[in-house]
Amino acid sequence: MERNYMNLVEIGKKYPSSKNISGFIQLYDKYFSNFKDKKINILEIGIEDGDSLRIWREYFTKAQICGIDIKKKNFKINNTEILIGDQSNKKFLQSLIGKYDNFDIIIDDGSHQSKHIIASFKYLFPYLNDGGFYVIEDLQTSYFPRFGGSRINLNKKSTSMNFIKSLFDSINYEKNDRPFFSKNKFDGKVKSIYLHQNIAFILKGESINYFYNLDKKINISDKIKKLISYLF
Ligand SMILES: C[S@@+](CC[C@H](N)C(=O)[O-])C[C@H]1O[C@@H](n2cnc3c(N)ncnc32)[C@H](O)[C@@H]1O
Repeated sequence: MERNYMNLVEIGKKYPSSKNISGFIQLYDKYFSNFKDKKINILEIGIEDGDSLRIWREYFTKAQICGIDIKKKNFKINNTEILIGDQSNKKFLQSLIGKYDNFDIIIDDGSHQSKHIIASFKYLFPYLNDGGFYVIEDLQTSYFPRFGGSRINLNKKSTSMNFIKSLFDSINYEKNDRPFFSKNKFDGKVKSIYLHQNIAFILKGESINYFYNLDKKINISDKIKKLISYLF
């Protein structure tokens, strides 16, 4: 069947966003096509000259789109809200939620500082709708010391990549009564993570409880057996 609209790669060619040369636009086209004509809310952190916002505006026909940036902008984009603020400032992020309630797509293309990426994610992810994507761009910065990253210690806890790695455990978290286990706020809320070179697409959704029947009453001997099994 013939397509009568431009895809994101084609639209991208009209605007000089770095999303074109990084190869990200092809990935956006793949993951975002289901949202094209839906009434959704999109937030992008990091506007620069507004080119990615222009791409989103042309592609998503019914979306409410908001871009935020720490630096004041002297341009406007039709039907697109531009707000000035710091992605690591909770009060500012709170004011966004006050306006939009929830988002379906959040893209972090802001400071690329690991601590900012993590702070924004921790605050905003709970306001992403199930089935929505949280995208983090330019993850090469996780290996650059000036962005709070490290090339030497790949396990440095405070880097954006190690934060993302921890989210893999949230996909697989066990919905059981393992002793001393305390659930963190992302456990069971991350459906999938699609990691490509320098970019992560994090899909929100409840993880499925395949193995444990929480409704089943377990007796004391089952409990002991279970406890012993945790040792191995
Ligand atoms: C890579 S550019 C964004 C490019 C744009 N998304 C595009 O694809 O055309 C990064 C932007 O993030 C902004 N920025 C840097 N630190 C920020 C912060 N702490 N909060 C919000 N925006 C920030 C910069 O001012 C800059 O405009």
